[in-house]
Amino acid sequence: MKEDKKFHIQTMGCQMNERDSETLAGMLTGLGYSKTENRQEADVAIINTCSVRDNADKRFFGTLGQLKKIKEQRPDFVVCVCGCMMQQQHIIDRIKEKYPWVDIIFGTHNIHEFPQLLRSVTEEKRKIVDVWDEAGEIIEGMPSKRLYKFKAFVNIMYGCNNFCTYCIVPYTRGRERSRHPGDIMKEVRDLVADGVREVTLLGQNVNSYRGMSEKGPTDFADLIYMLQEVEGLERIRFMTSHPKDLSDKLIQAYRDCSKLCRNIHLPVQSGSDDVLKRMNRRYDRAKYLELVNKLRAAVPEISISTDIIVGFPGETEQDFEDTLSLVNEVGYDSAFTFLYSVRKGTPAAEYEDQVPEEVKHRRFNRLVDAVNTHSAEKNAAMAGRTERILVEGPSRHNKKTMTGRTDGFKVVDFEGDSSLAGTFCNVEITQGKTFSLVGRLVP
Ligand code: 5AD
Ligand code: SF4
Repeated sequence: MKEDKKFHIQTMGCQMNERDSETLAGMLTGLGYSKTENRQEADVAIINTCSVRDNADKRFFGTLGQLKKIKEQRPDFVVCVCGCMMQQQHIIDRIKEKYPWVDIIFGTHNIHEFPQLLRSVTEEKRKIVDVWDEAGEIIEGMPSKRLYKFKAFVNIMYGCNNFCTYCIVPYTRGRERSRHPGDIMKEVRDLVADGVREVTLLGQNVNSYRGMSEKGPTDFADLIYMLQEVEGLERIRFMTSHPKDLSDKLIQAYRDCSKLCRNIHLPVQSGSDDVLKRMNRRYDRAKYLELVNKLRAAVPEISISTDIIVGFPGETEQDFEDTLSLVNEVGYDSAFTFLYSVRKGTPAAEYEDQVPEEVKHRRFNRLVDAVNTHSAEKNAAMAGRTERILVEGPSRHNKKTMTGRTDGFKVVDFEGDSSLAGTFCNVEITQGKTFSLVGRLVP
């Protein structure tokens, strides 16, 4: 076998998948492989898929088509596909039928098995489909190769119990399972010892975290208070928060815990009570606005972002106007906007009153304009302020510029040396743009 074996991983979708890919990278590194950004020279290629919207599905099958060419030239090239799409039987059937040269298909619940699966393929030249319908025990202590040295994702829970009617995640990631608080604390302490200054706690709905420590039940806010005490850790973030479970205790934690960043991603999905009900979100507009008010009363400078779906089945013009007015009322710092995408197997896919594409697109464009107007205003208002930035590295657009994030998660570009990567700097904001800020390093 050749000495310098290489792997390539393409990750689609959310931070959960990013984190899973870090685990896969860790396992491959342990097996003696090194990472390459060029799939052409890889010995093993993994595509970690997302099934939350249809465009990710399409992109995946497009990529598979490209891999076929490499496989034809080099039959030893190992092609592995995993992630949320593989938890759906109709996808597996399609791969087996149209892309039979794929070597390994595995799912979201058995990532830990990957080294064994790979060995079977490379040594026995077998094709493997191994997807578990249900999650087993949470596996601790898996290796990981992080994207950044100084910041890290930390899973605190897996799965989702909410069954929003548009969403495939409860079917692909299974029921909620919380990690033991002790395991989370150990992971964070180890990360800090390894140079990490910022952690992002991950879960589909972190507010429903339920752990059990020696001292008794531990909820999400308790976890934040525990992490506040970790010496060397400077910033705590989390993703994602479901409005129905956001507690007053967590809002209080923003006041008490200096390390908890002044930022929240609070997906609203729609501003119409009727749509929210049919989405099974289990809060209404008034309750959501009340949460926003409470958060701002507790932490006036908090930045708020959200997710919004346009064109959910049955969405009327008035429902859409309600979403627009909510966007204007909240004045988000930023928002991810999505066209509703039919997901096979979800309740909403069966709803008869699907919104025509052109109506969806028209509403979508109006929504994006409203969202961008608020982002630009919020960012412009930052001019003149000095912000503490965690520097990430050179900007993607201009190598002479460094980029980092404020406590409120806003991107700031400024002139500085690449040696600043991974450090905290004070930067005076000179300009606010729609999607980012420009600043000047304060000596
Ligand atoms: N169509 C469009 N957007 C969706 N999302 C989840 N499922 C769908 C779907 N079927 C969006 C939601 C969620 C985000 C991660 O993706 O806004 O918060
Ligand atoms: Fe999907 Fe709703 Fe669960 Fe989020 S809370 S993952 S939108 S089902």
